[in-house]
Amino acid sequence: MGSEKFTKKILCIGAGYVGGPTMAMIAAKCPQYKVTVVDINKEKISAWQSDELPIFEPGLLDVVKQARGRNLFFSTELEKNIEESEIIFVSVNTPTKTFGEGAGKSADLQYWEKCARDIREASKSDKIIVEKSTLPVKTAIAMERILSVNEKGLHFEVVSNPEFLAEGTAIRDLENPDRVLIGSKETESGLKARESIVEIFANWIPRDRLITSNLMSAELSKLVANSFLAQRISSINSISALCEKVDANVTEVAKVLGMDSRIGNKFLNASVGYGGSCFKKDILNLVYLCETFGLHEVAAYWESVVKMNDYQQNRFVQTINQALFNTVANKRIALFGFAFKANTSDTRESPAFYVTKKLMEEKAHVVISDPKALNNAKIDLKNYDSIIEYEEDPYKAADKAHAIAVLTEWNLYKELDYEKIYKKMERPAFIFDGRNILDHQKLFEIGFNVYPLGKPHLIHFKDV
Ligand code: NAD
Ligand code: UGA
Repeated sequence: MGSEKFTKKILCIGAGYVGGPTMAMIAAKCPQYKVTVVDINKEKISAWQSDELPIFEPGLLDVVKQARGRNLFFSTELEKNIEESEIIFVSVNTPTKTFGEGAGKSADLQYWEKCARDIREASKSDKIIVEKSTLPVKTAIAMERILSVNEKGLHFEVVSNPEFLAEGTAIRDLENPDRVLIGSKETESGLKARESIVEIFANWIPRDRLITSNLMSAELSKLVANSFLAQRISSINSISALCEKVDANVTEVAKVLGMDSRIGNKFLNASVGYGGSCFKKDILNLVYLCETFGLHEVAAYWESVVKMNDYQQNRFVQTINQALFNTVANKRIALFGFAFKANTSDTRESPAFYVTKKLMEEKAHVVISDPKALNNAKIDLKNYDSIIEYEEDPYKAADKAHAIAVLTEWNLYKELDYEKIYKKMERPAFIFDGRNILDHQKLFEIGFNVYPLGKPHLIHFKDV
C-alpha cells in the first residue's frame, strides 16, 4: 500500500490503555491519515493485530476493526516508523519513581527520555512530538532540550495533549470528549504545531471543545484534573466514615450535595477507595512538584487525598475483621470483583489488591472472582498463588464462604440470586458492600448480616 495517499503520517509510541484506543479512534475518524502504533512489547503488538486485544474496553474492537489494515497499523519497528512520520505521539508509561531522589512521589521519566533519544536518533526530518503521557510540569521543555541536541539541524516542536479518557468508557470519551487540550509554546513554530494537532481532532470534535493553552498550563491541568477527581472521592469517603457513626446515609447525603449545581452530582459514590494506575501517581506527582517549589502546605493538602484513600481501604478490612468476631483466619472470604472499576480488566492499584493482601496477612482463605480481571489478578498475586483461589463463577466463589466482599461495581453482582448464594454459605453469613450497589434491605431479609459503606449496618445480632 503506497503511503503517499495519506495526508498525515502519525506515529504513537506506546500501545497501552491510552495509545491503542486513542490511535484507533483517530484512524477510524480520519481515513486520510496513516496511523501506526509501536511498542517494545511484541506480545502486545501481536494481540493488537488479532481479535483478542490486549485490553478489555467496551466497543474498542469495533473501532479497531474499522481501521486496522486500512490506515491503522501495529508494529514493533520503531526506527523506520519514526523516520516516516511527521507527528509522533508518545504514550509510554510514567510510573511513580521507586528509587533515588523523589522516590515514591515523582514520576519515573526513563521510558519517556528513552523515546526522546530514539526519536532524535532515527529522525531525518522535522517533527512534532506530542506528549500524550501524563508528565510533570516542564517535561516538554526538558524534552525539547534533549531533542534539539542533534547534529542534523532538525527542529522538533513538543506539544502537550494530555489524555482525559477513563477506562471502561474510553471509546465514548474519545468519540465525544468534554474537551481536548492542546498546549504548545506561543512562538510561531509552536502555534503552527498546535494548529496541526487541533486539525486532527477537528475531524470529529466541535472546535469549541478543542482548548489550547501554553505548555505548562496543559501539563499542569492534567495533574490537577485527576487530583480534583480523586479529592471528590476522598471527600465523600471521609464522610462515609462519619455517616456510619451517626446513623446517616452517605447516599442520601451525596444526593443532597449533587443537586447543588455548583457541586454537581458526579464522582460522589462512596467506595472502598479509588484505584487505577493514575490517581495516586498523579497526585503524588503534584505533591512532589509543590514540595520542589517549597509549597509545603499545598503539598500536605493534596497528600491528604491519598492518605484518606489508604484510610478508607484499611477501614474496610477492619470492618470485615471486626464483624467476623475479630478473626478471619481460615475463613473463606469471596471477593466479588478485582478490577479497579467495572468494565475493565485493569487491576493496577485496585483496592481489591490491598484488601486481598490484608486478608491474607490475617490468614483468611481468599477466593477471587471477576468476569474480566482474573488473569491480571493472577499476575498481581503470583507470589501468593498457592493460598488464593480464583473462581470466575460468583456462585462457586461464595459456596461455603463465611463472607462476601463486593469490591468492583460490576452490574452482574447486582443481578445474582442471593437467596441461592445464602443457602450455600456458612452461618452467620456476612456481606460487605464496598461499592454500595446491592439491595441491602433485601439481603438483610434473606438472612445476611449486611455492611454497606456509610450507612447503618443491618445485623441480626445486636449484642456484637
Ligand atoms: P500502559 O502501561 O498501558 O502502556 C504504555 C506502553 O508503553 C506499554 O505497552 C509499554 O510497553 C510501552 N513502552 C514503554 N517504553 C517504550 C519504548 N521506549 N518504546 C515503545 N514502547 C514503550 O500505560 P497507559 O495506561 O496507556 O498510560 C500511558 C500514559 O498515559 C501514562 O502517562 C498515564 O499516566 C497516562 N494516562 C493513562 C490513562 C489510563 O486510563 N490508563 C488515562 C489518561 C492518561
Ligand atoms: C481517571 C480519570 O477519570 C480520567 O479522566 C483520567 O484520564 C484517567 O484517570 C487517567 O489519567 O488515568 P480512570 O482511573 O480510568 O480515569 O477511572 P475513573 O472512572 O476516574 O475511576 C477511578 C477510580 O475511582 C475507580 O477505582 C473508581 O471505582 C473510583 N470511583 C469513581 C469512586 O470510588 N467513586 C466515584 O464516585 C467515582
